Amino acid sequence: MKDVLAEDFEQISKRNIPWNELKNKTFLITGATGLIGSLLTKFLLYANQAIGLNATVRAVVRNVEKADKIFAESKTEALSYVVADLEKEKICCEGDCDYIVHAAAVTASKLMVSDPVGTIRTAIDGTEKMLQLAVEKKVKAFIYISSMEIYGQPKTDGKTAEKDLGYVDIETVRSCYPEGKRMCECLCTAYAAQYGVNVISARLAQTFGAGILPTENRVFAQFARSAMNGENIVLHTTGESEGNYVYTADAIAAILMLLVKGAAGEAYNIANEDSHITIRNMAELVADEIAGGKIQAVIDIPEDSASLGYAPPVKMWLDASKMRALGWQPQVGLVDAYKRMIRWME
Ligand SMILES: NC(=O)c1ccc[n+]([C@@H]2O[C@H](COP(=O)([O-])OP(=O)(O)OC[C@H]3O[C@@H](n4cnc5c(N)ncnc54)[C@H](O)[C@@H]3O)[C@@H](O)[C@H]2O)c1
Repeated sequence: MKDVLAEDFEQISKRNIPWNELKNKTFLITGATGLIGSLLTKFLLYANQAIGLNATVRAVVRNVEKADKIFAESKTEALSYVVADLEKEKICCEGDCDYIVHAAAVTASKLMVSDPVGTIRTAIDGTEKMLQLAVEKKVKAFIYISSMEIYGQPKTDGKTAEKDLGYVDIETVRSCYPEGKRMCECLCTAYAAQYGVNVISARLAQTFGAGILPTENRVFAQFARSAMNGENIVLHTTGESEGNYVYTADAIAAILMLLVKGAAGEAYNIANEDSHITIRNMAELVADEIAGGKIQAVIDIPEDSASLGYAPPVKMWLDASKMRALGWQPQVGLVDAYKRMIRWME
């Protein structure tokens, strides 16, 4: 049976992305040892073989050993590393660069509350360093990987489109993440206006699927592991928050499309509008449809739940029509996303 990730990559390579414009280019990808960055890097290396993309990939990493493990099966001469801690170090990168995808960020909720200053510094200082590099290299496009969390608590009537920013409580420590992302997007808009950088913000819904890393511990991976191990899914909140999701390969396809088709200084929601469900209902869906009813979703709220850094509950349904207008369509729904992710984890 074909590897599930190879199937995903083949499917991305058959999409209506303007591949000719991406041919023979150099891509600099930050956060390359993370979920999004590693998949984008692996896909570009796959596309070199499969569709003759002839991409050169520079992966910004902090830990070469970790990167070597992640890219053990996909590494070719087209891949090289740029070692930098974007919170603290200047990035040294010789040679040309056509595209930058900036995916590095603090994403672990626990770290957001234990090191909120580092979370903000990584966001702002890291993004500014990459934007400066974009000016220096005169890149064709710069994608800032943002998040649906920038909406905070949006209006509750109807779907949330790119202009519908809601409330973020900056007296809450955990807001270092969404507020940091807001400032980064603002910095992107500023660099687009002042230095003419073709910057596009990709506001991802929660993204998961085949290709997650063995160290992944976000809620989707925990649910999948419970289903695989036949253990009840334990929710540490009441699970009323409405989640918006997108499958990994659909997100990678959207990012590639934005490199060519995104409008400078603008933001795009990347979400599968049909994959919209409360956390609790998603836990029940996994218990029923993935684990065949052999497990249950149970709520157990720990006393020190604040230290876990969960995002505040929101009611939000992301509108992805701006992205769809570019010709992008999500292809994998929630149940299949779990099935494919579990096939990959197995
Ligand atoms: N996966 C999702 O569900 C999701 C949803 C919305 C937005 N996003 C955003 O997408 C981007 C990528 O997320 P991901 O899911 O791949 O997360 P991840 O945690 O898997 O990867 C983050 C990457 O950033 C790197 N990084 C962190 N601090 C760094 C520093 N100081 N210097 C250099 N590198 C550093 C990490 O090493 C890692 O490679 C992030 O900006 C995240 O906020 C992700």
